[in-house]
Amino acid sequence: MDYPKELSYPIQQLSKAYPLEGFVPGQGPLDPRIMIIGEAPGRTEVENFIPFSGQAGKELIKSLALAGLTREEVYITSAVRSRPYSTKERINKRTGAHEIVHPNRTPTKKEVLLHAPLLDYEIAQIDPPVIVTVGNIGLQRILGNQAVIKHCHGQVIRSSIQFCNPAGTAYQWSDKSYVIVPMYHPAAVFYNRTLAEDIEKDWIGLKTIVKN
Ligand code: URA
Repeated sequence: MDYPKELSYPIQQLSKAYPLEGFVPGQGPLDPRIMIIGEAPGRTEVENFIPFSGQAGKELIKSLALAGLTREEVYITSAVRSRPYSTKERINKRTGAHEIVHPNRTPTKKEVLLHAPLLDYEIAQIDPPVIVTVGNIGLQRILGNQAVIKHCHGQVIRSSIQFCNPAGTAYQWSDKSYVIVPMYHPAAVFYNRTLAEDIEKDWIGLKTIVKN
């Protein structure tokens, strides 16, 4: 996605005040069969500028196949366009050296709000027939904080969605109604294997929702 400079430049400048690095545009056809909304890019993504190109991306492609979809048919983006990182000190187990590392972390609500106009722009440009949120961050960005993935995964929700107000200080609700299907984040299964069955069922169910 080519964002207008007057939209992306101020957000990239303001992002410098936060532990965020890089900038990965959303990617995919402008007339996709679905729009996927994830959390934020990770280390792999900020290196190659391709959303969901790391480990979680491999899982996502497998899930898309269950719904009869390929990566080329879907538009992939996330709540935040830069990699949120934390700073940790640790002892390197191999060398014994003291080192500082910067692992990925979940974006904060403030960071999600800062980047909200970029996602709003993508939704307005694409007008997706189905929005598939993956994980709680994408879900809550779209449907608000009371939405929780473990209670609504795989459901078809027809609802207005949140977008950022012109001042960039809060969300407001769209007049238009969208079709939203919340899914677990593809990386969730790395931490909790017991989710695998539900995840598979949810993506197979998406097949009947997505138009051919
Ligand atoms: N998780 C996301 O939400 N997006 C990516 O691009 C990678 C991991």
